[in-house]
Amino acid sequence: MIEYRNLRIALLGAGSVGSQVARLLLEHGDELAARVGAGLELVGVAVRDVDAPRDTSIPRELLTTDAPTLIRSADIVIELMGGIEPAREFILLAINSGADVVTGNKALLATHGPELFDAAEQVGAQLYYEAAAGGAIPIIRPLRDSLAGDRVKRVMGIVNGTTNFILDRMDVEGSTFDDALATATALGYAEADPTADVEGYDAAQKAAILASLAFHTAVPVEAVHREGMTTVTASQVESAEKAGYVVKLLAICERLVDPETGVEGVVARVHPALISRRHPLAAVHDAKNAVFVQAEAAGDLMFYGAGAGGLETASAVLGDLVSAARRHVAGGPGVGESTHANLPVLGIGSVTTRYQLTLIVTDKPGVLAQIASLFSEHGVSVEAVQQTVASADPARPADEPLTATLVIVTHEASEAALSATVAAVSADDSVVRIESVLRVEGDTP
Ligand code: NDP
Ligand code: HSE
Repeated sequence: MIEYRNLRIALLGAGSVGSQVARLLLEHGDELAARVGAGLELVGVAVRDVDAPRDTSIPRELLTTDAPTLIRSADIVIELMGGIEPAREFILLAINSGADVVTGNKALLATHGPELFDAAEQVGAQLYYEAAAGGAIPIIRPLRDSLAGDRVKRVMGIVNGTTNFILDRMDVEGSTFDDALATATALGYAEADPTADVEGYDAAQKAAILASLAFHTAVPVEAVHREGMTTVTASQVESAEKAGYVVKLLAICERLVDPETGVEGVVARVHPALISRRHPLAAVHDAKNAVFVQAEAAGDLMFYGAGAGGLETASAVLGDLVSAARRHVAGGPGVGESTHANLPVLGIGSVTTRYQLTLIVTDKPGVLAQIASLFSEHGVSVEAVQQTVASADPARPADEPLTATLVIVTHEASEAALSATVAAVSADDSVVRIESVLRVEGDTP
């Protein structure tokens, strides 16, 4: 029997995610109440326009444009408006009014996370944000709770569905970037302005959140190295496939020791990279997301599922709501964010990884040896070389030199050594052009 009073739930936003949260909360209220041990009463839904069309029907009397009054009346506030302001102001108001907060706002957490966590800790409130990285995928709780006794070494994720959809189309169907983006837009995966997805901003926000949690260190989004995937070409994807790789936009968060300075720190980066087709992340197709976690004791773990979608994301939000409600019933202060490690946040220059370079070179004696010597002069060790002679075209003018394509995969090298090698290679007379330079992550196929 439920003896605790009803808990008052305020919802801020009734868009893609908020409208599904409202529907599920209204439809499954009794079941959720039984799980919590208290009724969950949706006391209001703040929106910009109460007359705007909605994905689900929300009783008219619940809709309001007066968010502050609604917030002050609530035990738990669910923020699903998005953006920085007024979401930040409303979350601070909720915390300072004694409410716990559930949010899916990655942009806000990646930029103002420490301010919000500090405010919550000061008053003993709790901030839940499972939906902020990976949508429906449980990844925040595993990093925060399940792996709290382990040491995470690396988190490597496909955390943006739009870009995974585009790269998957390029890989599976041989589409160009533009055609795949057009399909993603037509299917509703990509926004009218896809910049946040294709330039890696969305993934960088999620990387900041995951890195902060995994390494108990506040990692601001500005410290995340970010490269978009608009420059990935169909020919890069095709040659990756031939070599046993697939191109993915990866968010990589790792704890490492800078090889030059010996300083141990955290690096977070987002960029397109090659991974072996045998790596678990290579099997992540369409707009799905996955996060591959490597921990000292647990070993390799992978979390997979829908990274977006109103209904799917609502699942994560409701999970947080049940946790927040149970805490109300059980009592006790919220647990603050753990930033005890406070490791230095290092730049991309501290990373060592493997690289694949595709070079178009003149096909004449000594070129391969000359290129190899440039790698060795800069301390970059070559793991594999594949050569294809391309200019066998009989219509080729007699004065045009024969060219060959060299695909070189290196052993692990620092960014600095690789950049110096690329500069030297591009200045070499026998090199017609550098077709592509991509990082290679994970094991050799
Ligand atoms: P939408 O844009 O679909 O909805 C936003 C809602 O917030 C709308 O109902 C809007 O009101 C309301 N709103 C916006 N500004 C205000 C304001 N100043 N005062 C009151 N209400 C306001 O967003 P989503 O549902 O897509 O996303 C919500 C959050 O969830 C974001 O932080 C997003 O990053 C995150 N998220 C979303 C995912 C997804 O798949 N969509 C996946 C994972 C996380 P009105 O309807 O009147 O315009
Ligand atoms: N635009 C994002 C994506 C939505 O494509 O994954 C979820 O953050």
